[in-house]
Amino acid sequence: MTDTSNTIKHIASPLARQTLQDGALTRPVASVRPIRLLPWLQVVKIGGRLMDRGAEAILPLVDELRALLPEHRLLILTGAGLRARHVFSVGLDLGLPVGSLAPLAASEAGQNGHILASLLAPEGVSYVEHPTIASQLAIHLQAARAVVGSAFPPYHHHEFPESRIPMHRADTGAFLLADALGAAGLTIVEDVDGVYSCDPNGPDAAQAQLLAEASAAELAAQPGTLPFDRAMLDVMANARHIERVQVVNGLKPGRLTAALRGEHVGTLIRTGAHAG
Ligand SMILES: Nc1ncnc2c1ncn2[C@@H]1O[C@H](COP(=O)(O)OP(=O)(O)OP(=O)(O)O)[C@@H](O)[C@H]1O
Ligand SMILES: [Mg+2]
Repeated sequence: MTDTSNTIKHIASPLARQTLQDGALTRPVASVRPIRLLPWLQVVKIGGRLMDRGAEAILPLVDELRALLPEHRLLILTGAGLRARHVFSVGLDLGLPVGSLAPLAASEAGQNGHILASLLAPEGVSYVEHPTIASQLAIHLQAARAVVGSAFPPYHHHEFPESRIPMHRADTGAFLLADALGAAGLTIVEDVDGVYSCDPNGPDAAQAQLLAEASAAELAAQPGTLPFDRAMLDVMANARHIERVQVVNGLKPGRLTAALRGEHVGTLIRTGAHAG
């Protein structure tokens, strides 16, 4: 046997010799706070149900987004709305696996994005696909004050089989992106004033109380429905940058603008991220 050790180039790496599963060993390297890639970016997630309402809801929102452009650089991410509910029911009826349902709903979210981008095109806004968001967002945002994308994360066949309906939907996708980019903020635009103690349009609407503020952990413990996917709350627990998210009503002109200016006009959700 020949000893080749003299010719091998060794690369010194603090993680090379250890399992990545031992937190005590990886912590000295992995506990460093990640940098903010786009610290000036405001991420806005537009609910698919708002888009479902058509011109009456969309046109005032587009006017508001247009007016915001000189003030903020935006990544506008759209949800899927009713068409995704329909495609889920058809797909479930056919026995499609959850990883096949995820991209179907994601394409509905993309359609809503294309609609918004078309209306904002005179301002230089265009729709960009996931790979562009992943690798060329910065250059697009140098060329235009905003871009639009689908809020759905691209899990496809990597979607967790926890439930038959994809658990990572538009809200989780928007939060993951905003936190990964180290954005200045995330605002979730709904068709209600914020998060209530129970569904304000449900059978117990009379008891529904608007929550001014809540932690992600408190909302995770609240039984019943929420106006966003619950998986977002799990992601929020481990957030690195986004400390709070505001849920606002996109049917009330001015609420989104006020939220982006730091005003409290909906429900503030505190995440697990801490400044410093
Ligand atoms: N606790 C709650 N607080 C506020 N709204 C709730 C709550 N529970 C259920 N809802 C309902 O959620 C509705 C919004 O639904 P949803 O969040 O699915 O729409 P969306 O965000 O527009 O859709 P998408 O996620 O596809 O973008 C509200 O109109 C409201 O009736
Ligand atoms: Mg919602």
